[in-house]
Amino acid sequence: MGVPGLDALLADGGVRGQRVFVRADLNVPLRDGRVSDDTRIRASLPTLRRLVDAGARVVVASHLGRPEGERRPELSLRPVAARLGELLEQRVAFADDCVGPAAEAVVDGLGEGEVALLENLRFHAGETKNDPEFARALAALADAYVNDAFGTAHRAHASTAGMVSQVARHAAGDLLASELQHLRVVLEPERPLLCLLGGAKVSDKLAVLEALAPRADVLAIGGAMAYTFLRALGQPTGASLVEETLVGEASKVLAAAKAAGRRLLLPTDHVVARELAEDAEARVVKEIPEGWMGLDVGPETAAAYAAEATRARTVFWNGPMGVFEMERFAGGTREVARGVAESAAVSVVGGGDSLAAINQLGLADRITHCSTGGGASLEFVQGLALPGVVALGDV
Ligand code: 3PG
Repeated sequence: MGVPGLDALLADGGVRGQRVFVRADLNVPLRDGRVSDDTRIRASLPTLRRLVDAGARVVVASHLGRPEGERRPELSLRPVAARLGELLEQRVAFADDCVGPAAEAVVDGLGEGEVALLENLRFHAGETKNDPEFARALAALADAYVNDAFGTAHRAHASTAGMVSQVARHAAGDLLASELQHLRVVLEPERPLLCLLGGAKVSDKLAVLEALAPRADVLAIGGAMAYTFLRALGQPTGASLVEETLVGEASKVLAAAKAAGRRLLLPTDHVVARELAEDAEARVVKEIPEGWMGLDVGPETAAAYAAEATRARTVFWNGPMGVFEMERFAGGTREVARGVAESAAVSVVGGGDSLAAINQLGLADRITHCSTGGGASLEFVQGLALPGVVALGDV
């Protein structure tokens, strides 16, 4: 694989006094104007620290949310600059715009080893449109370019793709390089490979289901998307979320796994309730009764999936097994998290709720790799080329 890394950039003439533009993924949750989960900021620190230590003038850029080309004050990166400064233990200047005079003034004012964060890239429509003019305006701030935004590597945007060819010196940051290295294990696994996929909708995960069903030795499905599969098998689903238009696709995924001689597992018991509410009466059932909806996998299913994890040599997990944000329906996701953590397999976990379960249980250090990219990791394990990586020269 041909992506140049930070070592090469630092060795090749160094970066002292140079403006190094770092595309990071600092798309973090905010609550009451403060960062409520700084995992992604922490993950970007190693690259930033190396550049600071090398005397670069570090220009950090990111998106936050989906403001669709409009300046939305609640999606300002200013609180992120404050948290980044605390974690780096140095001042982080903030530019009110990511291009033009406001950005230039802040970048011009940076000394060696100093850091600035630019305002949300997506306040400009040119970012997601990969507009060449916007890409040029970003490139005007850069003597060298580093992409460390693994979480956004599946987007062909101006800051991840368009600007790269306009900056002669470019490299992958340490986070991006490490993500690619760990996720590659899922493409070339030690077998058996167990893929655990959860989440609400088949429509969000159809491509990855299609890709993994014939490749994973075991594909274990949880979350509401399991009900579309159960419907495809003619099993009762009560009032559970079923995507009627995708029942046919679910049948094809089941057939593809079977044709390839792989095992596709579906829940054999369920935590059901009549309504989606924290205080709803919940029951564990083998068959979902009329008027009840499945909101979590049952204990038998969770134990079976956890046992599969202990038998596997490689585990990839993305997506919750139930409505994890409600305590009553979080048990299945937690049990699976425990199983993955206790397994001796190489384990790669991506996606907000799966990681939240791992973190809640204090198990992060028992997972081989916690990915900072949900969508990006799903595209990667399908074998798709990520535009942000291709732009760096991985062709
Ligand atoms: C993410 O949170 O998955 C990344 O930051 C990408 O965000 P996006 O889906 O809005 O492009």
